[in-house]
Amino acid sequence: MAVVELRNLEKWYGAFHAIRSIDLRIEDGSFVALVGPSGCGKSTTLRMIAGLEVPTEGEILIGDRDVTDVPSRDRGVAMVFQSYALYPHMTVEENMTFGLRIAGTPAPEIRSRLAHASGMLKIDSLLGRRPTQLSGGQRQRVAIGRALVRQPDVFLFDEPLSNLDAQLRTAMRMEIKRLHQNLKATIVFVTHDQVEAMTMADVIVVMRDGRVEQVGSPLDLFERPANLFVAGFIGAPAMRFLDGVVRGDVVALDGGAELPLDAAFSGLGDGRPVRIGVRPEDVVPDGHGMPPGRAWEFTASVTLSEPLGNETLLLTELGGQELLSRMYRPRPVRAGDTFRFAIDLDRIHVFDRESGASLRR
Ligand SMILES: Nc1ncnc2c1ncn2[C@@H]1O[C@H](COP(=O)(O)OP(=O)(O)OP(=O)(O)O)[C@@H](O)[C@H]1O
Ligand SMILES: [Mg+2]
Repeated sequence: MAVVELRNLEKWYGAFHAIRSIDLRIEDGSFVALVGPSGCGKSTTLRMIAGLEVPTEGEILIGDRDVTDVPSRDRGVAMVFQSYALYPHMTVEENMTFGLRIAGTPAPEIRSRLAHASGMLKIDSLLGRRPTQLSGGQRQRVAIGRALVRQPDVFLFDEPLSNLDAQLRTAMRMEIKRLHQNLKATIVFVTHDQVEAMTMADVIVVMRDGRVEQVGSPLDLFERPANLFVAGFIGAPAMRFLDGVVRGDVVALDGGAELPLDAAFSGLGDGRPVRIGVRPEDVVPDGHGMPPGRAWEFTASVTLSEPLGNETLLLTELGGQELLSRMYRPRPVRAGDTFRFAIDLDRIHVFDRESGASLRR
C-alpha cells in the first residue's frame, strides 16, 4: 500500500503537449478514477506512473520514494491493460506466475500466491487453459490475477472493462470494488465512462486536454461541478444548459423567460452572460417526481419521449432552448403532449459563459 504523488508532471510527444502540469496526490488505499474524453491523457498519465512512459518534466513519488527514474519492475506497481496482454502460448497458470518466476520467487511462495489469487477470482478450474480457450470475462480475471500475485502496492487499471458486454461489465465493476475493499491497496483506474468512475471510485479526477479539471468524490463532482465541462461530463443523462444574461436578481434567458437567482449566486453583476445548468431530475413534470423545494414553473410541450420502464425521459424546450426532464412512475407520453414543469431552483447551476467557471459562492 502506498501514496502516489504526481508533481508538476508534463509530457510532450515531439511538439504535442499531452500532459500539462499535473499535480495530484492519491492517498494510500484509495480508489481513484481518471476519467475524461478520448485523447485527454488518461493512459499517458497511468503509463508514467507505471514507468512505461518517461515524463518530460516533473516527479512521481510512490510511498514517499521518488521513482521518476526507477524502472517499472522496481516501482511496486502492477498494471492491467484493456487488451489484457496475456501470453497466447502460455497457460493461465504460466501467465499468472511468469513474472514471479522471472523474479526468482521461491516455488512454494509462487504456489501459495497462485492459489490465493485464483481462489479469489474463481479461476482455479481454468489454470491449465490457454487464453484462446477463455471467454472475454475469464481473460479479464486472469489479467487481474497476474497483477494480484505480484502483491503490488499500487494497482493500475487502464480501461479493463471496455471489452466486456454491458452485463459482465456491471458484474466486474462490483468485483473489482470488492477486491479493493479486501486488499485495501491503492488503485488508479482509467476509464472514459463516467458511470464506471462514479460507481467504483472514492475520488474522481476529471481530465481534459492534458489537464486536471476537477478532483473530488463522486457526489462532490455531481453536486458542485467547478465548471461547464465537469457539469456536462458527470451525470447521466447529462445536464442541459440554458443561456441567459444576469438582470438584477434574475437571469433573463434567451427566448424570454426570467429565472430567479438563488442567494448563493447573488452579486453576479448586471449584464453578465451566464449559462444555467439543469439536471433532468430537477425538471419535474407535474405529479411525476419529487416536488421541488423552490419551484419555478413553465408550461411546454414534449418534443420527444424516451420510455425506459422505471422512468421516462422527456425532451422539451424553454424559450427555444432544450431541456430534459425525468418522469418517475411514468405514464405513456407522446410528442406534442403538454405538461406543467417545475425547475428546482435550489439545484440549478450557474456558470460564467466565457470562462465556464461555476459562479456558486
Ligand atoms: N506515443 C505517442 N506519440 C505521440 N502522441 C501520443 C503518443 N501516445 C499518446 N499520444 C497522444 O497523447 C494524447 C493523450 O493520449 P492518451 O493515450 O493518454 O489518451 P487517453 O485519455 O488514454 O484516450 P483514450 O480514452 O482514447 O484511451 C492523445 O492526443 C494521443 O494521440
Ligand atoms: Mg487510453
